[in-house]
Amino acid sequence: MPISAGILTISDRGAAGQRIDESGELIRQIAGQHAFRVAGYKLVPDEKKDIKRALLHFSDELGLDVIFTTGGTGLSPRDVTPEVTAALLDKPVPGIAEAMRLAGLKYTPYAMLSRAVCGIRGRSLILNLPGSPKAVAECLEAVMPTLPHAVLKIKGDMSECA
Ligand code: MTE
Repeated sequence: MPISAGILTISDRGAAGQRIDESGELIRQIAGQHAFRVAGYKLVPDEKKDIKRALLHFSDELGLDVIFTTGGTGLSPRDVTPEVTAALLDKPVPGIAEAMRLAGLKYTPYAMLSRAVCGIRGRSLILNLPGSPKAVAECLEAVMPTLPHAVLKIKGDMSECA
């Protein structure tokens, strides 16, 4: 079975039709290159209730293996993606966000400004990514190779890790 994925773009401007969702499209492309099956997509403004509803739909209703969010991880007053995500997690997986920030620092010191969180809700692994396409590409380059193993473990695979 391919890994199922959801993409949630969080952007006031995108939701208002003032910006094309290049980051969401890039996640779709990269996920496809890794043989993930994208089974859900949504674009919402930086509103807690909209982000929460979309995350619950992808995790609790659709049961997607991996949920990628993009946007709203920074320091602006409207950036609330990490707070909403953290409140929904059963288990944080801080190493994934740490790996993304570490990898990002090779490209820009601003990588430290993303407050992205990652973790598990039910059987879904949720990853916050920053909003720009450049950041999405850099972050996913760092973590995509690890995600199939993470998904196996979340599903209860008990085999020894090589
Ligand atoms: N991470 C990587 N790898 N590359 C980037 O260009 N941009 C940073 C950071 N993370 C960036 C990155 C910047 S400029 C900001 S403000 C924060 O992500 C938060 O972005 P967001 O609010 O769009 O989520």
